[in-house]
Amino acid sequence: MKRLGAFAVALLLLGGCVHNKNGFNAREKEKVVSLGEMAVKRLMSQLKTNLGMALKEGGFAKAVDFCAGKAQELTAKVNKELVVVKVSRLSDKYRNPKDRATGEDLKVIEELKEKLKEGKLPKYVIRKEGNYFVYYKPIIVAPFCLNCHGEPTRMNPEVLRVLREKYPKDKALGYKAGQLRGVFKVVIPEKVVKGG
Ligand code: HEC
Repeated sequence: MKRLGAFAVALLLLGGCVHNKNGFNAREKEKVVSLGEMAVKRLMSQLKTNLGMALKEGGFAKAVDFCAGKAQELTAKVNKELVVVKVSRLSDKYRNPKDRATGEDLKVIEELKEKLKEGKLPKYVIRKEGNYFVYYKPIIVAPFCLNCHGEPTRMNPEVLRVLREKYPKDKALGYKAGQLRGVFKVVIPEKVVKGG
């Protein structure tokens, strides 16, 4: 019995180190998810607060003007505060070319779109790339977002005018509520996850 107990403990310990096919174990996954969520929340709250203030000040046209100047700046500020992890927003149909999804990121977005169609959208996706973990969180279009990402024919002309001026190659129009708008991507160095 005693030996069986020791055997079970050994199995458990081993289990803790066993990596799944993605190359990380349960404890690492938990840490990646919590760091990923924390980074996403920080960026989201910064963007929301600032968008809210601009909306109050001058409606959607003013808010577009604000977003155009501030979204990248706020992202950079959040990343400076986060120090070791890096958060960004990416899309296949991007407005700012800096947010263009490519390679593995684009693959994840395509997979998420398929999952959404099947009604099985996961809360997040994690993968390992070299010495980094990558955490993705899907971004879904809410009715409110259509003010700036909807069908152009149904949008405020002043908002459209500002958008056309700032983003002549804008791909982020014509969305419907409930569609996948893109992802938050958080890159977390392996040593941050493994160290304690
Ligand atoms: C007031 C207009 C406005 C509203 C409302 C708005 N957006 Fe945007 N959105 C923008 C602008 C402008 C950009 C480009 C920012 C930049 O240059 O970095 C953008 C960029 C994005 C990006 C980054 C990817 C890309 O295309 O560049 C995502 C993701 C996004 N918006 C999602 C949303 C979602 C989800 C909502 C609703 C919750 C929303 N937006 C509401 C104006 C808006």
